Amino acid sequence: MKLICANWKMNKTTKDTREYINKFLPLVEGVKDREIVLFPPFTSLCVAKELLENTNVKLGAQNCHYEDKGAFTGEVSLDMLVDLDVSYVIVGHSERRWIFGESDELINRKVVACLKKGVRPILCVGERLEEREANLTFKVVETQIRLALSGVEEYVDQIDIAYEPVWAIGSGNPATPEDAQVVHRFIKDLIHSIAPKSEGKFRVLYGGSVNPENASEFMKMPDIDGLLVGTASLNPDSFAKIVKSF
Ligand code: G3P
Repeated sequence: MKLICANWKMNKTTKDTREYINKFLPLVEGVKDREIVLFPPFTSLCVAKELLENTNVKLGAQNCHYEDKGAFTGEVSLDMLVDLDVSYVIVGHSERRWIFGESDELINRKVVACLKKGVRPILCVGERLEEREANLTFKVVETQIRLALSGVEEYVDQIDIAYEPVWAIGSGNPATPEDAQVVHRFIKDLIHSIAPKSEGKFRVLYGGSVNPENASEFMKMPDIDGLLVGTASLNPDSFAKIVKSF
């Protein structure tokens, strides 16, 4: 099933969350042929859990820690997220990689921890502008995927990937659907070569300046299985339009 995700990043108080969800749910009522997931900040997960119960919208978290519990000030464990009915976690988002210095090794630990706890990671990969200009897109994406999946290659059917070219994020300058398609095909071929039985069991989402006007063009591409939306997901009307755009 196609997967459409709203990554709110560091936006919205609990009050905003309540208002958003109360407005959003009626807009997507009855939509059952695609998976819809909201990723609010940690502080809004509790409110969101209550409001999304018994609806067609699932809950995700924007990050997690890989240890079960202990002296890790400021971190949030997967058990805590499972307790809040979180079924997806974004791992390796470029903002975590480039602002907070997350390494491929740390990202791998998080992927492994998610799999152990039965939470589906959405592994984000993508090249920076200078890497694209140096024709390194495929190399960067391949390295990020191989390192993130190291040791858990056979469980790739329990993971989804998001291709988010860093230069397209929040820039208003998306990849063309055709360019994104080429990278998505490359990612699928790569994963099939790493885990031959995985065909059709994981999804590759596109993220980077998706909006209600361009969403359907991406979704027309044969290897784009969903969208990870930032800015345009902050408005419930816009996100509902994206969800229903294809
Ligand atoms: O995770 C979604 C994201 O990074 C894309 O953000 O604002 O370009 O839709 P945006």
